[in-house]
Amino acid sequence: MKAIIRNTKNVKGAVRVPGDKSISHRSLIFGAMAEGETVIKNFLMADDCLRTMEGLRSAGTHIAESGGSIYVTGKRKIFNEPENVIYCGNSGTTMRLLAGLFASQPFYTVMSGDNSLSSRPMGRIVEPLVRMGAGLFGRKANRYPPLAIRGNTLHGINYRMPVASAQVKSSIIIAALSAGGTTIVEEPILSRDHTERILISFGGKLEKEGLSIMVPGNQNLRGIEIEIPGDFSSAAYFMAAAAMVKNSRIRIEKVGLNPTRTGFAKVLARMGAGVSIFNESQEGMEPVGDIEVSGSGRLKGVEILPCEVPGVIDEIPLLATVASMAEGKTLISGASELKLKESDRLLAISTELNKMGSDISTTDDGLIINGVEKLGGTKVESWGDHRIAMSLAIAALAAEGETIVNDFDCVNISFPSFPSIMSECGPEIVLVKDKKEPPLKGDSHVHRN
Ligand code: S3P
Repeated sequence: MKAIIRNTKNVKGAVRVPGDKSISHRSLIFGAMAEGETVIKNFLMADDCLRTMEGLRSAGTHIAESGGSIYVTGKRKIFNEPENVIYCGNSGTTMRLLAGLFASQPFYTVMSGDNSLSSRPMGRIVEPLVRMGAGLFGRKANRYPPLAIRGNTLHGINYRMPVASAQVKSSIIIAALSAGGTTIVEEPILSRDHTERILISFGGKLEKEGLSIMVPGNQNLRGIEIEIPGDFSSAAYFMAAAAMVKNSRIRIEKVGLNPTRTGFAKVLARMGAGVSIFNESQEGMEPVGDIEVSGSGRLKGVEILPCEVPGVIDEIPLLATVASMAEGKTLISGASELKLKESDRLLAISTELNKMGSDISTTDDGLIINGVEKLGGTKVESWGDHRIAMSLAIAALAAEGETIVNDFDCVNISFPSFPSIMSECGPEIVLVKDKKEPPLKGDSHVHRN
């Protein structure tokens, strides 16, 4: 499917975005590990989260949907051996978090993914989980999917993570809950902390000291009722549109405002956009509120420091989009993790925005963006990456003429209702089915270290 998008006069209105992707995955996993029932409201019905749901079902978890809520019957950490390979699709979160869960189960599990996931590094979870006592195997010296897991009795470890990663941290914490003894995990820069927060909601225990987290072993969790806040990363597309397109103002309601996620709002404000927050409240352990963004003339280029990167990790392609039309230079460094996402996002976004007239070059660990006065619509590619597809759609709203974003179906990975919610604010995104089925993508996997 391709998306045809024309530039827009303005974007206006108040919208709600679907539930947070990270919290949706975690609510299912902790619900499955707990005792009793977990009721999840505003769960994100998107491909990635449905992969986690299917993975848990394959291991014997009863998960039902009724009246817009998800009901998980807890397995008290006693799962069944899946009868077949668990297919994780495009979802790194599914594979890495479920690996932490299956590491302690006395059976054999295999997890595979699509071509993108098959080229994403798994050594970062294999190493700590093996140290805890599990057997994990993968291609290329146990570094790439498919992953085979021989679960075992685990013991706590003291582990310093080489890179900031919420998926790795969460995989270790999930394994630690079933291990004997205490696990201490430390990361170099704080990544999103939804796991730590939701664990407390499920009655679990952990202690934090600086960047270290101490997780006592053999914990029992209890089911909860949870309402998932709107996904800040989905809200960010609307914020960017309002900041880039003249005479725009958008309010996004009931969005998660976890401080480990909201870096993009701070950067937009630094670039000169009007950003205000209203109606702040708490949903379980997570802060929520409404965000309003308005453009105020041409934005200014800024510098994004390495310490800020985990807080904007999923918004860097979008930041590149906004910066491409800002005045002056934007420098992003310390972002080499972006090469290891659903696509090499530094290369993907710079290549495609440059087709629209941007002036962006890649560095070893970031981007140099020289702002231009205007972009022009043309044909661009999503690289099968949902965040690239939506970032290009936002560029299209501010570009002159018409833009075609090919391979747009990938928005279903995190935000299937993106086109319809965008139309509530004015712009129309016309979706056109491809005449021919897209050719099967090659089976060769590019390894990204
Ligand atoms: C996620 C963590 C982030 C993010 C991803 C979702 C999570 O990756 O990019 O989209 O739910 O834990 P890192 O593992 O690099 O932090």
